[in-house]
Amino acid sequence: MTIRTIARLGHPVLINPATVVESPGDPELQQLIDDMIETMATADGIGLAAPQVHESRRVIVARRIVERPERHSSDVIVLLNPILTPLGDEMIEAFEGCLSIPDLRGYVPRYRRVAFRGFDRQGHPLIGEAEDLFARILQHEVDHLDGILFPMRMPDLRHLALAEELPHLRDWMEEQRGRS
Ligand code: NI
Repeated sequence: MTIRTIARLGHPVLINPATVVESPGDPELQQLIDDMIETMATADGIGLAAPQVHESRRVIVARRIVERPERHSSDVIVLLNPILTPLGDEMIEAFEGCLSIPDLRGYVPRYRRVAFRGFDRQGHPLIGEAEDLFARILQHEVDHLDGILFPMRMPDLRHLALAEELPHLRDWMEEQRGRS
């Protein structure tokens, strides 16, 4: 496995739509997937899309995070050609970041629950449902495949912060809420 270089904000690979994966059995694709998992882990990320390692293909890896009182678990899911469908219209706003936009955090609305479908790394159909943080990760990563970065999803760009200033912005947002 090789740790790949992560493309950062401004690199066109991040804003070009990625192409559909046609042959999942391809050894070179398997190598890419292994490298993406390794790169995500090394960067301490919770999701990574192939364009972020300069491969404009519809491949994502994501931590399947389940937050339940009795069970907090996470494993890595690989999805080829993923398609998401919102389940309900409930949206949650939360701060998120991106390995391609280091040190920045933005307040982004995402669907609370989504259904996903695509293919696993062997090319077998894979379907499931996601909620809360896992749903947010999937929406963020699938956006990467369409050339969309999280600031493009922000309704209010005042809610963009350097990570070290985030506590101050949170305080300010609390104050604003208190006033309304
Ligand atoms: Ni990202």
